[in-house]
Amino acid sequence: MAKHHVIGVFDSGVGGLTVVKQILASIPDARIVYFGDTARAPYGSRSKEEIIAFSSQIIPFLISQGADIIVAACNTSSANALPVIKKDFDLPIIGPIESGACLAVKMTRNGKIGLLATERTVASEAFHLAVTKVLTKGVRPLAEKSGASGQSGEKPISLVKSQACPLFVPLIEAGLADSDQARNIVGMYLAPLTEAGVDTIILGCTHYPFLNSAITDLVGEKVVLVDPAVEIVSELRKAFKEIEKAEKEGSRRQNSREKEDQWKQGQVKYFVSGDPGLFVSVGNTLMDGSIRLRDVRLKDLAAE
Ligand code: DGL
Repeated sequence: MAKHHVIGVFDSGVGGLTVVKQILASIPDARIVYFGDTARAPYGSRSKEEIIAFSSQIIPFLISQGADIIVAACNTSSANALPVIKKDFDLPIIGPIESGACLAVKMTRNGKIGLLATERTVASEAFHLAVTKVLTKGVRPLAEKSGASGQSGEKPISLVKSQACPLFVPLIEAGLADSDQARNIVGMYLAPLTEAGVDTIILGCTHYPFLNSAITDLVGEKVVLVDPAVEIVSELRKAFKEIEKAEKEGSRRQNSREKEDQWKQGQVKYFVSGDPGLFVSVGNTLMDGSIRLRDVRLKDLAAE
């Protein structure tokens, strides 16, 4: 399926590895070029203009590395930059916002969805809009369809509470996801969502699955945590099919053999703008030691 495609994945830092992990779990032969903008993270407290500028640098860099499809893993970029810059690129660009909203609507039983995200993502209201959009498209909770909710008729579904979590990303990037400090902060950010009675929480930032166990310990198993990365894989498969159709019809050129030969199947090439060693040590807490320092190169896009 992944044949000759090279998937460019970007994020502000280690967070996008949660997406890489999902992609490799479903498509083990995927070829991935990853950019983590660790020197300029967190994006969540940056201005919209900065996020647009950074994303506009990263996408051409990934294309120069052979990417023929882009996964804007970063929710903050997807919410703030993609609507503005997507039209400037002639290749599929997939983001997590609509996927996350869709999954949340499917998973909720009481209709109350919560969101944990960066300040800039919350301010963009992108998830609010996406929930409304998927509901308009007719997406409904799975429990409602199966009658498992125990109620007849359609109940109102909405994003009832969004919580910005500015302290999460610096902690995770510093390798402190599994610390008492992180657990205390998780408690602080979850309280408003629990008070609002949500039964489904969108992890609206790629970094947050690093805190999965701390969050689950607090909210319990009954609250569903939605990681949009899960749906990104099916979006990718759809995009592969579309590219292949366009290649067959001749309206799109296939990635060259030469580019293909530079890759092994299942290979991930990593680029970061900050300390490669820190990226490897924090990243490997999620990637089970599979990232080797020699596969991580420093790329300072800010200097170009
Ligand atoms: N991990 C990114 C996201 O999904 C951005 C986090 C940050 O750098 O603030 O939103």
